[in-house]
Amino acid sequence: MQNNEICKLLNIKYPIIQGAMAWIANGHLAGHVSKHGGLGIIAGGGMPPEILEQEIKKAKEITDNPFGVNLMLLMEHVEEHIDICIREKIKVVTTGAGNPGTHMEKLKSAGIKVIPVVASVALARRMERAGVDAIIAEGMESGGHIGPITTMVLVPQVVNAVKIPVIAAGGIATGKQFLAALALGASGIQVGTKFLVAEECHIHENYKEVILKARDRSTVSTGNYTGHPVRVIENKFAKQLLEMEKQGVPKEEIEKIGTGRLRIAVVDGDVDNGSVMSGQVAGMINERTTIKAILEDFINELGAERESLFKRMDSWK
Ligand SMILES: Cc1cc2nc3c(=O)[nH]c(=O)nc-3n(C[C@H](O)[C@H](O)[C@H](O)COP(=O)(O)O)c2cc1C
Repeated sequence: MQNNEICKLLNIKYPIIQGAMAWIANGHLAGHVSKHGGLGIIAGGGMPPEILEQEIKKAKEITDNPFGVNLMLLMEHVEEHIDICIREKIKVVTTGAGNPGTHMEKLKSAGIKVIPVVASVALARRMERAGVDAIIAEGMESGGHIGPITTMVLVPQVVNAVKIPVIAAGGIATGKQFLAALALGASGIQVGTKFLVAEECHIHENYKEVILKARDRSTVSTGNYTGHPVRVIENKFAKQLLEMEKQGVPKEEIEKIGTGRLRIAVVDGDVDNGSVMSGQVAGMINERTTIKAILEDFINELGAERESLFKRMDSWK
């Protein structure tokens, strides 16, 4: 896929980005994704600067291939995170929670590619004007914090609205879905949930088990009422949140009760009281795997699905 725009832009083998995942996407995970030809991303948001530095070093011990860092722009330490990325010669940052506009000059003059995650056409246009290199259009099927539009509907509209390459995120776990993303006009994909069941992903076994057992309707979106929707597995805690939202409990109280919940699911394995963030594709993820297999399966399935699609289309003639 050497001629693919994303592969050329990022100097990677496959146009597959491992999405940032707080508490999960560390140097080990990102390093292995990059080692096997994708683009690993360290979830910098919320990390103390010294931990980010350590994680970058761990990724560098695993691979010489490029990997990236996700910056959460409204969180503390963002300036220090940017300085670390520059010092460590990080090649690409993805951004969320805010506008990279004010940091663009600094990042660009250090030769860092900037790729924001967006959930609307208006934001994609604004980001292109700010000078970013590509856009990740993330649909509401995704795990974690989400916007209101599906990948199927968002991606082609973003593709029509901007000239820079678009990467589709949300609801992609197989070659069939990869092919669909390309058909929508995307040049690459960002994947989160599928990487949760990789051997190299350090999350608690209980978390992995929940993902493996999930079905098509196992996730819900909480936080719509506070204006910060999050897609999670529907467990005891999610039900409690939804009930509080229904009863009109003050937003501050709901946000307070949500603090630290991802950590207790990821680290402690408390999948009843923790926030088990997951995309809707969890229903299609049924076996443990490795990062190498995930990336190779995407590429092999993409080829097979392409053939199958052409055959079906030919048969209609
Ligand atoms: C457990 C989990 C945590 C996530 N945390 C973050 C995050 O910290 N920052 C971010 O930009 N995106 C985050 N995401 C979104 C992913 O980076 C990615 O865009 C998304 O998972 C793609 O959709 P999929 O889950 O359907 O593959 C998270 C996703 C999951 C599943």
